[in-house]
Amino acid sequence: MNPRHFISLLDLSGDEFRALIHRAIYLKNHRDPDYQPLKGKVMAMIFEKSSTRTRISFEAGMAHFGGSALFLSPRDTQLGRGEPLQDSAKVISSMVDCIMLRTDRHDTVTTFAEHSSVPVINGLTDQQHPCQLLADMQTYFEQRGDIQGKTVTWIGDGNNMCHSYIHAAMVLDFTLHIASPEGYYPDADIVAAAGARVKFFDTAIAAAEHADLIVTDVWASMGQEQEQQLREIAFRHYQVNSDIMKAANADALFMHCLPAHRGEEVTAEVIDGPQSIVFAEAENRLHAQKALLEFLICGK
Ligand code: CP
Ligand code: NVA
Repeated sequence: MNPRHFISLLDLSGDEFRALIHRAIYLKNHRDPDYQPLKGKVMAMIFEKSSTRTRISFEAGMAHFGGSALFLSPRDTQLGRGEPLQDSAKVISSMVDCIMLRTDRHDTVTTFAEHSSVPVINGLTDQQHPCQLLADMQTYFEQRGDIQGKTVTWIGDGNNMCHSYIHAAMVLDFTLHIASPEGYYPDADIVAAAGARVKFFDTAIAAAEHADLIVTDVWASMGQEQEQQLREIAFRHYQVNSDIMKAANADALFMHCLPAHRGEEVTAEVIDGPQSIVFAEAENRLHAQKALLEFLICGK
């Protein structure tokens, strides 16, 4: 039987996504050290890029559930010396119960999944960051209830986070406003698949109107560091500041997947202000991924 993977939010139905969110909220509020559904299970984590939240939340989540996690860097494994992905996927999946990858290229994760006999989780690629959206949506549900029919505004780069927000809008049925500078729009195929749920705006202020949630991300993602100066110019009118928050609904929330650059994509006033829920969002990586691990590995 083929294992159930989590490569994209589109791998989930709306009911499954909501069930994961509610399970994550339950696990957060009813921590039971005797509940060890992954006792003796091992997860391999392959990181081609840096991470604080993703690594710690998966490692801690496996430990809470009685299992363990291995941190693997391509620099220290044969992956970095060109061992074929197909062979690596077969070998690693013969020894562990789940594999998480954070890779430069999205097709590294999809190829790995094709050849893995155990569930594969996308821990961020250049195209998507679905684990982050599990936590973001859990955080919104905790604060405001179901997000169906609400309006979320994405300001900034049409990057991996933006793509996963488009997918979340499709699966959970909310409207996504996007304001991005020319040349930094999200992928056209991903946008086309979302149909009328995604709307583009010429300015960040216009996109923020009627928003229940404002979200942004860094101007230069991992691997784009050499574009920093160019991007600072391109994105200078796409900062989330108090004017943007004032244009949104009065009870609008602010999220950012972190790490953030205060004074660039968001002002300190906003990210450290009363509408910001970024630290609850970060903590929820742990709870949401525990629900995901249980779902993928235990099948419930
Ligand atoms: N948000 C997020 O994925 O953080 P890390 O890069 O620290 O894992
Ligand atoms: N867009 C960012 C997200 C980091 C969690 C990046 O890819 O670097």
